[in-house]
Amino acid sequence: MKPAASRIAITSYGVLVILLAGTVERAAAQPARTLCADCHVPQGAQFTESIHGHALRCQDCHGGDSDYRVETADKTRFAAYFSTTKPAAPLNEKFDHGERFRGKPARKDVPTSCGECHSDVARMNPYGLRTDQLSSYWVSGHGKRLKETGDEHVAVCIDCHGAHDIYKHDSPKSRIYFQNVPTTCGRCHADASLMTQYKRPTNIIEQYENSIHGQNVLKKSDAGSPNCATCHGSHAAAPPGVADVGHVCGKCHQQVETEFSSGVHGKLPLFPRCVGCHAREGGKHNHAIHKASPSTNQLVDVFREIREDYEGDAARAEFTKRVDALPNTLLFSQVCRACHDIARADPHAQFVRENSPVALEKGVELAGALRLAQFEYARTAERIERLSRGVLLVKDEAVRLEEIRTELLSLNVAMHTLDATGIHDRVRKLKEICAEVNGSLDGKELGLNRRYQVTWGVWGFIVVFVSLMYRKYKLLRAEYVISTPRPASTSLPVVTPAPVPVVGRRKFFERSLRTLGAVGTLALIWPVIAYVFPSRKRGGAGERVSAGKTEGWAVWEMKKVSVAGKAVGVIRTDNGFKAFSLICTHLGCIVQWSSTHRSFECPCHEAKFDAEGRVTGGPPPKPLPSYNVAVAQGDVIVTAPS
Ligand code: FES
Repeated sequence: MKPAASRIAITSYGVLVILLAGTVERAAAQPARTLCADCHVPQGAQFTESIHGHALRCQDCHGGDSDYRVETADKTRFAAYFSTTKPAAPLNEKFDHGERFRGKPARKDVPTSCGECHSDVARMNPYGLRTDQLSSYWVSGHGKRLKETGDEHVAVCIDCHGAHDIYKHDSPKSRIYFQNVPTTCGRCHADASLMTQYKRPTNIIEQYENSIHGQNVLKKSDAGSPNCATCHGSHAAAPPGVADVGHVCGKCHQQVETEFSSGVHGKLPLFPRCVGCHAREGGKHNHAIHKASPSTNQLVDVFREIREDYEGDAARAEFTKRVDALPNTLLFSQVCRACHDIARADPHAQFVRENSPVALEKGVELAGALRLAQFEYARTAERIERLSRGVLLVKDEAVRLEEIRTELLSLNVAMHTLDATGIHDRVRKLKEICAEVNGSLDGKELGLNRRYQVTWGVWGFIVVFVSLMYRKYKLLRAEYVISTPRPASTSLPVVTPAPVPVVGRRKFFERSLRTLGAVGTLALIWPVIAYVFPSRKRGGAGERVSAGKTEGWAVWEMKKVSVAGKAVGVIRTDNGFKAFSLICTHLGCIVQWSSTHRSFECPCHEAKFDAEGRVTGGPPPKPLPSYNVAVAQGDVIVTAPS
């Protein structure tokens, strides 16, 4: 290399080294990159855990830069400030988050801000999310008020979903998890200071919590029961008008709505519909919805309490009294009186005044019919339950009990028609089935008593036989011992006789006799035991039951059998035989098979299941359980799943 060229190279190298050194020095002087969560610690932690944590950045909602460099001392100070719920002193300085920083969005801007993504079909499609929430919100009571009056006290997205702590609706941590919805709504609707300005009651959450719906949701974790959003909607939240209440309730209680609409009250335009009877305290804001009837378990419990102390009509009267006194039972006498009391002075009472005595009488009569049906059910159910704990096999009766239960639940629905003839017919039918079942139980109990009587005879015989055997044994023994020659008394020196195998033979004889006696006794006892304790082992998992011969079994015809004490329907499809439990997976009514529609239909709440047992309509949460079916030598055999 020439000297001039080498001088240039050395100089360039020197400049490069100096530049690099400057850069390194500057980099060392600058703080490391700072994340939002380094200062906004709690919000950052919530956001990271939330559903948005993996899909969004803080800047998507708050704007600002994404590259911050904050001195360690400042970062510590900021983190301490934002981690304290109520800082003692304000943070007297503004951090420069960048030009596009929006900060905390104003409440009025929150719906639009969230809607930027949630109304965007392209963005929401990958997540399978709806995109109409924002438009729904603007037509809701909350949204309209915000838009029309600018009232920022109304609920916006973050009030129901959270701001940084947003979770999927099926996470128990989510504010909109089905059990958390009442609390979420209650944050505003139970707040007296907030609700007073809107003249809204603040006890609706408490009423809901004590209602049948609230108890199911909160205590029994029943996700199928309604919470606030089920009736009022979620984003398009609006109070259902009085006229619409029936339709709102009818979304779940379809059959009740149908029956009610066909009845005398359903045709009255001014009738307050469902809440008029089911919400005890009355009033259009009432959320304390109660069932009219106690559960079937409660009915059986009541009967169990009185069974030993009351009989006949006295038992029925006491049963009625105690059922009427159960908490949350609606009393017809009170419910009907709410409108039909001639002493009332309000316009509605004027409207019904002329018919009041007749109406009240009819109400009492129908209530009596319902209590009679409940009494018959409870009496039969309690008896089956009691007998099933003993030696009797009552599985067939247990299956029929499900039929009675179905009739009772259908009767509850039919009560909404107020059609006395139809209601009495149903009660009569229920009583007939109860009588058949009780007749069958009577027969079985009688049979068992006869078995016991026979047993006593057999036991007597055994005792006599064993006594005679023992006596014979004694006699034989005495005879043998006496007949054995004893050595004669003599003055001659005693000669010890040679050992004779007498003792061995005697022992052998005794043992043989004992063994024979024991075997004979056991042979006698065993059939007796089997006779007195019949077939308790039958049934249960793996039980095989014949549903009939394939011959003559038409396609889409169903035959009912009892397998392991459960009602099972066997249908012949064009693809072979199939068997399903006939117990509805909603509330346990017995479903009926419709060969015309090729579906199982539940008479209680209009559920439908197809020929594969799948739910095709109504409230059941799961399909009908299936059973194994096989054809063996022309017999259709159903097996209980193990
Ligand atoms: Fe309610 Fe069957 S029990 S739908």
